Parts: sequence; C-alpha cells; structure tokens
Amino acid sequence: MRVIFSSAVLGTLALALLADSTPTVPVHHYYVSSGRSLRFTKPLQIHMPEHGSQNQARRDSDTDSQSFVSEEPWPSRIIRPGGTSIQAASSSSDGQYLWDTYDSVLSKMRYIDLTHTITPDIPIWRGFGNITFSQAVSKLTEQPFEYAKDKFVATAYKLTTDQMGTQLDAPAHFNPYYAASDEMPATFALRKLVVIDMSAQVLKNSSYALSVADVLDWEKQHGRIPAMSVVFVRSDWSKAWPYVNTDVFPQVSLEAVQFLHLKRNILFHGHEPLDADMTPNFDAEAWALRNGYAQAEGVTNLHLVPPTGCLLSTGFPKFAGGVGNYVRYVAVCPSEWKHGVVPGATPEAPLPKFVNPLVWNEEKGRRVRALSQKAIV
Ligand SMILES: *[C@@H]1O[C@H](CO)[C@@H](O)[C@H](O)[C@H]1NC(C)=O
Ligand SMILES: *[C@@H]1O[C@H](CO)[C@@H](O)[C@H](O)[C@H]1NC(C)=O
Repeated sequence: MRVIFSSAVLGTLALALLADSTPTVPVHHYYVSSGRSLRFTKPLQIHMPEHGSQNQARRDSDTDSQSFVSEEPWPSRIIRPGGTSIQAASSSSDGQYLWDTYDSVLSKMRYIDLTHTITPDIPIWRGFGNITFSQAVSKLTEQPFEYAKDKFVATAYKLTTDQMGTQLDAPAHFNPYYAASDEMPATFALRKLVVIDMSAQVLKNSSYALSVADVLDWEKQHGRIPAMSVVFVRSDWSKAWPYVNTDVFPQVSLEAVQFLHLKRNILFHGHEPLDADMTPNFDAEAWALRNGYAQAEGVTNLHLVPPTGCLLSTGFPKFAGGVGNYVRYVAVCPSEWKHGVVPGATPEAPLPKFVNPLVWNEEKGRRVRALSQKAIV
C-alpha cells in the first residue's frame, strides 16, 4: 500500500490512499481558475494510477496571492487555500470522495500532539506576568461552582498575555495592518508539515540559529519544501520543558525565515522556544509578522514527527482583536509511522472514565486528578 499526499484537490485536504492494484477514489474533473474573474484557465484532471503505477495527481498552476471571497454556496465553488478557487465541473459531486478519503486514509493515520499543556507555572517570556487559574464563582451564591451543589464546575483564568504556551502568532502582534486572531483564515486548519531537524547542531551550540544552508541541506535529502506548507524547526529545546532556558535558546535566523517565505512560499514556520531569535529587536519574528506572515512558537514533540509526509492540524481560538493564539497543533502522520495514536485506539465517545475524580488543588492552583478514588468535591 502506498500513501500519496496530493495537493490537487482542496489543497492539502485531499489524500488518496491507493491500494497497489485498485483505485479507491473516484476520478473527478475540475476546472481551476485563479483571481477574481473566475475565468476558466486550465482544465485539471486528477489522474488515478493504472494498475501498479504510481502516478501522483498534481496541479502546477501557482497559487494566486489574492484572496477570493465567494458568495456562492458549496459545492458549486470551493475556495482553495492560497486563494485559487476550484470549481467542480460536475454538479453531481456531493463531496463523497472526501468522506471516502477520511475512511480510507485519515481515520487510519497516527495523530501526534505537538502542544504544551497550559499550567499556572508555564514558562513565559519574562516581560509578561504570571497567569492564574481559579474555580469559577457563581454570581448568584458567590461560591465556587461544585458538582454536588451546582451539578457542574467551571474554571476562571487570569491570563496576562495572549503570547503564551504553544502559539500561533497573528501578524497583528507586530503590525496593526495585518490579521488579528479573529481575522486568521480558517484555511490554516490543515496543511502539509515539514520538520527540519537542527538538534545535532544545538547539542554543540545551545543558541545555534537555523541557516539557509541548513534548509538547502534538508532539501538535498528530502526534496523541495512544498509551497504553502508549514515548516517546524526541531531543536529539542522543549524536551527540558518546563525547566527551559527562555533567555538562551536555539534560534531561527532572519535569513532562514526570509528564505522560507520568499523563496519557498511557505505558510508559516514554527519553533520550539518562545521566540524565533535572541536579537534585541526580535529580528526574525518582527520581519515575518510585519510582512503579514504568521509564526508558531512553543511547539513540542517534534522528535516524534518525520521530516516529511505528515499533515498539520491547527486548532486556534478566535478572540476579537487578539494578536496571539493559544493553539493545539496535531501532526497527522502516515499509518506506518512508529509514533502517534490511531483514531479509535483509545475510547473517544464516550471518553474513558477515570478511577480518581478531578479535584481543585489549592497548592497547584488548578484542578488535578485526586490521589484517592473517593475525593469528591
Ligand atoms: C510567578 O511564577 C513563578 C514561577 O511559578 C514564581 O516563582 C513567582 O513567585 C511568581 N510571581 C508572582 C508575583 O506570583
Ligand atoms: C552559536 O550559534 C550562534 C548563532 O548562529 C552564533 O552566533 C554563535 O557564535 C555560536 N556559538 C559558538 C560557540 O559557535
């Protein structure tokens, strides 16, 4: 069996799991148009392999940077991530191929969480104050909600910044003319994921900075970085989390970030530390954000992800005018990969029941699993 990640249909959404002999995904015909005019410029056919062939569906037209906003309901027009729209030639398409793709591909993949847990003592940039969790208090009784009394509990968070933990920085963090949190496009939700490993260099130099030469070396081994992919830089800095050094850390050079955006047209890059570099003016981060590019910070578990072949799922909140995003990154990796969890491998609905209940822990300033089965609050 061979897994082909195809950029032809719905950008990165389409994956075709191709059995060696039998095509499992029906052939669809699309017309690709770019820009606002929606003129048909190039008919595109998704080629399915003949028996035994390994023909990968592809399209070559470059993405149009202008975003196209459609008023027409799906499925007559599909907005392709990157701004090119794909219009189904046949109005009979009901999207079944995508559900089929879920069944035959995505449901069998391995899911790896790349996200730190947010705790009150989470490492945070020294310029921001501590955050606190507390039990939400009922306005009616002025007492914390309790399972026994109120049937539910709730949590209140005092957050001193939206730049915390595993993040997706909105460009408005550095430039008011670019997107804030709530203006980030939903299309960021699923992309190809590239992991560039510089952990060997970091072992010798804890403030090593990823260079353009490192990127080119990576490409010699793994091929060209796909346009509009996400590139995460592995340094293994986060392996020491939460006992990390937030003042001296592995970096991504300004030149490398510029190369990835300007020469490889990536969607965004990400790194394990809480900043891209140690320069006084945040050179790499400032350049990216000021020019309208997002970036990821505080990413973890990259040592569990292969350099190519995974997708990245990004779940991000939507605070109006916010400039950072607390985010959950999940790598979706091929079924033959050794790490990660396959959907259904653990109970999901219902989720597993714990032996010990969740209780408020005053010392930790958050809820934890009780040590005893009987601790009911
Ligand atoms: C902030 O958190 C750190 C680490 O948990 C702690 O050492 C420090 O005392 C806290 N500062 C304040 C003002 O609470
Ligand atoms: C470590 O890497 C940084 C960034 O490339 C560089 O400025 C520094 O000189 C290096 N340190 C050593 C000891 O090589």
